Amino acid sequence: KTYKIAVVKGDGIGSEIVPAGVSVLEAVAAKHNFSLDTTDFSWGAGHYLKHGEFMPSDGIEQLKAFDAIYFGAVGLPAVDDTLPARDYTFKVRTQLEQYVNYRPVKLFSGVKSPLRDKTEKDIDFVILRENNEGEFVQNGKILYPDTPNGVAVDTSMVTRLGVERIAHYAFKLARKRRKHVTNVTKSNTLIYTLGFWDKVIAEVAEQYPDVTYTKMYIDNASASFVLKPEVFDVIVTTNMMGDILSDLGGAIMGSLGLGGSGNINPENNFPSMFEPIHGSAPDIAGQNIANPIGQIWSAAIMLEHLGESEAAQDILAGIEHTTAKGNLTKDLKGNATTSEVAESVVAFIKAN
Ligand code: NAI
Ligand code: MG
Repeated sequence: KTYKIAVVKGDGIGSEIVPAGVSVLEAVAAKHNFSLDTTDFSWGAGHYLKHGEFMPSDGIEQLKAFDAIYFGAVGLPAVDDTLPARDYTFKVRTQLEQYVNYRPVKLFSGVKSPLRDKTEKDIDFVILRENNEGEFVQNGKILYPDTPNGVAVDTSMVTRLGVERIAHYAFKLARKRRKHVTNVTKSNTLIYTLGFWDKVIAEVAEQYPDVTYTKMYIDNASASFVLKPEVFDVIVTTNMMGDILSDLGGAIMGSLGLGGSGNINPENNFPSMFEPIHGSAPDIAGQNIANPIGQIWSAAIMLEHLGESEAAQDILAGIEHTTAKGNLTKDLKGNATTSEVAESVVAFIKAN
């Protein structure tokens, strides 16, 4: 079997960690008897500086021809500050209906969490970030910006369909895990959008009597990530809260560079996209020191989605083996390079 993969390295460290991830994918494909037909797309903020857009206008159509998209990150500070920065990521996630942003949080062997007393059994949960609507619909305006009367508005939006589908995904996933869903919300103050969000999730919860359900406000959830992460199994939350919480999730794993994710269209109407949780890290780009594990983990999540479960497990075992040996990049206080970490995962896959 051959999978057609669109590879979008993006900006910053993307050109270091994506090839690292592709080398792991190639090793595992050879071993598990499938092949990858990859096509590179040089899209992102660099593309914007040259062509005035993050991707060509038919970019989404081009992506539809693939089985999956393997992505690094896009963005450069200079481009972020140009309004409006209609970027690549939001466009792909919404137009390809990747409404689930699946972001697991766990401890790898040999990596110490900054939460000193917490171990592997305490930190093992999944953040499901609603990925298509909420705070990030980019519906707003700025009026009279250069006058004393300047005012700006962003309108958040949630729909019944949008909440129901992410909620069903959460409860189904919980059934395969420890059967607990936490809705992270802020409906005590965002009374309309999140009041409705809570109501719809509570209705869906009733259809899964075997799964326990709790509602927790984002402020408390942030503290709980640090003080008692063991209370979480599956978290379902909105686009912006999920974005912020996943960086906190990365931090309690030991580094942002460890987090992998999938932007998933569960119905497979369109290809899904797999990327690390972090951005393009321009502050460390070009030095071969970025941690490639989040990117490599994203490759495992991609293979799991494509139905290559054994290959996905093999990648995870390769990551565990690498971290357990103390083969760590600078963010984890080690001195391994990006390529050495990838080579170690590849060597494990070939040898086992
Ligand atoms: P960032 O996630 O790129 O970096 C935050 C901090 O974490 C930096 O100190 C960075 O060096 C470190 N870090 C991130 N990934 C790492 C890795 N693999 N190994 C070691 N250290 C790592 O967030 P920041 O700085 O806020 O954004 C940089 C650019 O990335 C911006 O232009 C932003 O818009 C973009 N961005 C893009 C995303 C995407 O394409 N999905 C997501 C988040 C940010
Ligand atoms: Mg983010």
